Amino acid sequence: MQQLLQEQVANRVQLDILKKANTLDLAFFENPEFYDKMRQAANQSSYQPVSMISQTFDLGRTVVTLVSLIFLLFHLAWWLAIVALIIPIPAFFSSTRYGWRGYQLMRRQSPGRRLMAYFVTLMTTDTYNKEVKLFNLGDFFIGKFWDLATGLYKQDKKLLLRRYNINFVWAGLTVVANTVIYLYVALQAVAGRITLGGLTLYTQTAVQVGQNFQGLLNGISSTYENTLYVNTLFDFLEYQPKIMSPPNPQPVDPPIEVEGLDIEFRDVSFTYPGKDVETQAALKRVSFTIHAGEAIALVGRNGAGKTTLVKLLTRLYEPDEGEILIGGRNIKEYDLKELRAQVGVIFQDYVNYYMTAQENIGVGRVDKIESKELVISAARKSGASAVIEKLPQGYDTMLGRWFKDLKDSTQLSGGEWQKIALARAFMRDARILVLDEPTSALDAQAEYEVFTKFRELTKGKTAVFISHRFSTVRLADRIYVIENGSILESGSHQELITLDGRYAQLFNLQAEAYR
Ligand SMILES: Nc1ncnc2c1ncn2[C@@H]1O[C@H](COP(=O)(O)OP(=O)(O)O)[C@@H](O)[C@H]1O
Ligand SMILES: [Mg+2]
Repeated sequence: MQQLLQEQVANRVQLDILKKANTLDLAFFENPEFYDKMRQAANQSSYQPVSMISQTFDLGRTVVTLVSLIFLLFHLAWWLAIVALIIPIPAFFSSTRYGWRGYQLMRRQSPGRRLMAYFVTLMTTDTYNKEVKLFNLGDFFIGKFWDLATGLYKQDKKLLLRRYNINFVWAGLTVVANTVIYLYVALQAVAGRITLGGLTLYTQTAVQVGQNFQGLLNGISSTYENTLYVNTLFDFLEYQPKIMSPPNPQPVDPPIEVEGLDIEFRDVSFTYPGKDVETQAALKRVSFTIHAGEAIALVGRNGAGKTTLVKLLTRLYEPDEGEILIGGRNIKEYDLKELRAQVGVIFQDYVNYYMTAQENIGVGRVDKIESKELVISAARKSGASAVIEKLPQGYDTMLGRWFKDLKDSTQLSGGEWQKIALARAFMRDARILVLDEPTSALDAQAEYEVFTKFRELTKGKTAVFISHRFSTVRLADRIYVIENGSILESGSHQELITLDGRYAQLFNLQAEAYR
């Protein structure tokens, strides 16, 4: 029974945590404090609630017994009752104090324990294993893991030993006190002031009062300790997302003549949390307009701010200043889900899902995940179909080698994974499509093909393409050169070449290499 209840509670807690995580902003997931809370919530609160329930029952029972015993003892010898009640109190205070310390220690150790878990992942996951092997990092990580483990163990041991020793002292004192009571009552019997029957009654009641009271105090102190742990769960569940849908969201009403939506950035500035606004802003007063149906390319060095621009467009972050408009309305006025349904993005760090090929593409539009027809057509567009058709079970082949045996699963190359990820974008029925360097692992030929297909298929839609390859960039209607969080130049390929600025410089650099 207890076990079933335990499992049920653990599942519910995990479910609540997942649901909460599902509502929170991306910024939370880039904050170590958040991870500590989440870990504490998940680890500590799964069994604590169950033990709290059984403890409450125990406490109730103890209180009833205790009250009747005290009543009896007061009748026999009131001072005995008082002594029996005083004895367990110091142990109670010490136990509560150590409970609090233990809880504090758990919180302090949380980052260390997360780091340990991280080293375990590094050492035991296929994606990291080749580098760990080739750089000979195994012993290095194992050493770090073990240092942490022994350090934390020492802290635990220190606290537990202290707690144990103090408990031992208090237990000894209780024995002494009880002995004194026995002696006293025995002397009274010897002196003939009480009968032999009275002797046993007195001592037994006194001891039982003492024991029950101690039980009660122990119950209170461990309930207190459990409450501390369960509170971390409530703390976690109290996190509120900052980016939310407005109370009365406006509908996205697209123009009739084109399929796309226009995008406008007005003086948008943004600095990542914890970074300096003056010197480390990711975007500085960026303004531009993309008309519905245009295909735009963004170019610029690593760290220029291209991905940040896309994150703001999809409201993963909120701009610090300025406005972003889609379809003529500030994106804050739309329902978040609807906004994101209008924008299909494949980021440079897209996800390889360890699921079937069908599901990997289908998640691009999860309500149609079962539709073979849509998935196959999306796969054709991105060039993934050629990869998938060669797989043993075709679209039902498990990708990644974690969950199915070797015969029924496969691992893909970087470029092949990218084609699968790109198919997700084609699966999506969005009016704005953004590809953020998801073609970097494709060979130049494949990227060119993807882009021309992308262009054909997104005709009428608004398309944003981020790439370092000028062979594809030059096909865009307009190109924005981003540098240090600002737009440096913009125009068509020809215009920018004529301008002979940064774009021309970067273009010539790349062309040079191919000559
Ligand atoms: N999650 C983040 N937290 C803090 N800083 C970030 C984060 N993501 C990116 N940055 C910083 O913001 C700047 C712009 O990054 P990004 O937009 O990803 O550049 P890119 O043009 O290569 O896509 C970089 O200096 C980067 O270090
Ligand atoms: Mg980027």
